[in-house]
Amino acid sequence: MSVKEENKNPAETAVKEKKQIEAKLIPIYIMGKRYEVPEGLTIMKAMEYAGYKFIRGCGCRGGTCGACGTVYRKPGDYKLQVALACQKTVEPDMYMAQIPFFPANRAQYKFADLTSAPEEVFKLYPELFRCVACNACTKACPQGIEVMDAIAALKQGNIAEAARLSFDCIQCGLCTSRCFGELAQYHMFQLARRIYGAKILPRAEHLAEMVRTINEGRYDQILDELKHVKEDELKKLYQEREAEPMPSGEDWKPKDTRYL
Ligand code: FES
Repeated sequence: MSVKEENKNPAETAVKEKKQIEAKLIPIYIMGKRYEVPEGLTIMKAMEYAGYKFIRGCGCRGGTCGACGTVYRKPGDYKLQVALACQKTVEPDMYMAQIPFFPANRAQYKFADLTSAPEEVFKLYPELFRCVACNACTKACPQGIEVMDAIAALKQGNIAEAARLSFDCIQCGLCTSRCFGELAQYHMFQLARRIYGAKILPRAEHLAEMVRTINEGRYDQILDELKHVKEDELKKLYQEREAEPMPSGEDWKPKDTRYL
């Protein structure tokens, strides 16, 4: 279970919050139980308002970590809907439950041993070819990713295209929860993006150079000095640091060039 009802004075907390939030109350059903919550809240905030405390299924609260997958159904609608609890606002009479973790097949591999050949993906995820192109995965994606198209690209051996199409994937697993071909799309895409980033794209020479200079200790002294600066001074230094203007030309350089 991802959440539990908080048992510390829930009535008292609810009364206090109800006073604070002056909004129309609407009925919703969380795991089958009816609650009245202010309209306009996200599912996550509505659950907290109702007295639930998140111990799993909540991370960034900003739609980027994928921890808060939720299923819901609206009255009179046969269709099961999916959403991120931190993004979707509640609607009257919604029936909802969270699925913060979806058990899905994740291939085991030693990344260093893999090549960029499409066969690597085929071997690790042979179920890829069970996709029947029903598009349920795309309809379930809260990120608006063309999931089925990315799967089609992988089937064609186009790892780069699969990586590009799935770039915004937050690994919530909602696609997989709706796939009757039993594909774990999000794990496949993660592998595609790893292969693309590490074994297909050209190496960034400036990055390699920077890593080399770090390893050679170029920044050891300044880091050591910063570790001994008092917190207030550190904050001041941070606030007054020189930032690269946006936009800046190719030849922009900071005034202090000691660490370039
Ligand atoms: S809590 Fe991170 S996506 Fe919702």
